[in-house]
Amino acid sequence: IQSQSQSQAQAPVIRKKLASWVGFSNLPNQVHRRAMRRGFHFVTMVVGESGLGKSTLINTLFETKLYGPKSVPQPGQDRGKTVQIESTSAEIEENGVRLKLTVVDTPGFGDFVNNDESWKPIVDNIEARFDAYLEQENRVNRSKLVDNRVHACIYFIQPTGHALKPIDVEFMRRLHTKVNLIPVIAKSDTLTEEEVVLFKQRILADIAHHGIQIFQPPQYENEDEETIQENEEIISKVPFAVVGSDSLVNSQDGRQVRGRAYPWGTIEVDNEAHCDFVKLRQMLVRTHMEELREHTNEILYENYRTEKLRAMGVMQDETVFKETNPAVKQAEERAMHEAKLAKMEAEMKMVFQQKVQEKEQKLKQSEEELYSRHREMKEALEKQRLELEDKKRRIESGRPLTPEKGTKKRFGIGK
Ligand code: GTP
Repeated sequence: IQSQSQSQAQAPVIRKKLASWVGFSNLPNQVHRRAMRRGFHFVTMVVGESGLGKSTLINTLFETKLYGPKSVPQPGQDRGKTVQIESTSAEIEENGVRLKLTVVDTPGFGDFVNNDESWKPIVDNIEARFDAYLEQENRVNRSKLVDNRVHACIYFIQPTGHALKPIDVEFMRRLHTKVNLIPVIAKSDTLTEEEVVLFKQRILADIAHHGIQIFQPPQYENEDEETIQENEEIISKVPFAVVGSDSLVNSQDGRQVRGRAYPWGTIEVDNEAHCDFVKLRQMLVRTHMEELREHTNEILYENYRTEKLRAMGVMQDETVFKETNPAVKQAEERAMHEAKLAKMEAEMKMVFQQKVQEKEQKLKQSEEELYSRHREMKEALEKQRLELEDKKRRIESGRPLTPEKGTKKRFGIGK
């Protein structure tokens, strides 16, 4: 209970015991009833080379024949050229709880001579599912959101006993930010106990080396001891070494069990001493299905959505931001005004310079004219002076003045 006058951020929470029953302790039941009415939807993807036991494991996990017997391609039969995406759904019910289970299969993955881009159709499919959800979120009526996003991807590793293959690394690197990756060692009954231990160590080392994030039960504070231990046990089994079988066989002690019978003994699928199937099922179905859905929604989808909207909307957002924010609008107008003034100033400067240049040109021209006139006058005066000096000398020396042209004739001088 908190006082209304205090701001939400600072308000201290006062714990109080109620005097009588108010009724909100019934909330979990309300949520439970609503969830029961709606049912649950879980989408899981299976990826791995053909024949690694994907369909068998899904049938074993959900104890249902989701997949019927498959036809094995005959030698020379065309298998297509790309990875296919096939989706199968089934409604299963347990103790009144309905689960719509969708399994997305990826036949063809890793089956071609060139598997370079095997991951691409799978990434495209996961993103298309995100896009479909995003499109529903953007609708006016969002009351009936259908969540077809992939909540978990079980990746089947071939039981080679060596290390991850390049195709495994490439696939996980491309997918780990878009889906909850759950790596499993397929058909682990083909490896000895020691080989499984060593193989797991190498796989985990490879995963860490390539910075791949795989899904692991998160450890929360305030968790009870039992849950913490359960989670730790699950984590210790990653990557799960699984065995699948949807048929019953006789165990060593004569029980009917799901397993695989060999001449030397029987491998029981549900026996934790034989394989990690039980732990995988516990995480995927019994304890962390909701966690997987939540992580998909809150982290993986949210990151994709943010990235997508940023890529799509940067330009648009900027325009809207400018149009709606008065400060940004004012700053933009001021900048435009300043640019206009600067342009006018530059134009005026140019005109002024042009005028100055023209004036200088004119002055230079008249200066040159003055100089040449001055030079001419000077030359004429000099000539005049020389002539006068000559005249003076002649007068002083008593010599007759040299008559000007035509003068001699007129006055009879010379011949
Ligand atoms: P595709 O549909 O071709 O991709 O194959 P898949 O990966 O779905 O394999 P599927 O489940 O059809 O199994 C292929 C064969 O492997 C079948 O003969 C199964 O009985 C067998 N198989 C399945 N799981 C296991 C297992 O855990 N161990 C062993 N030894 N064999 C298995």
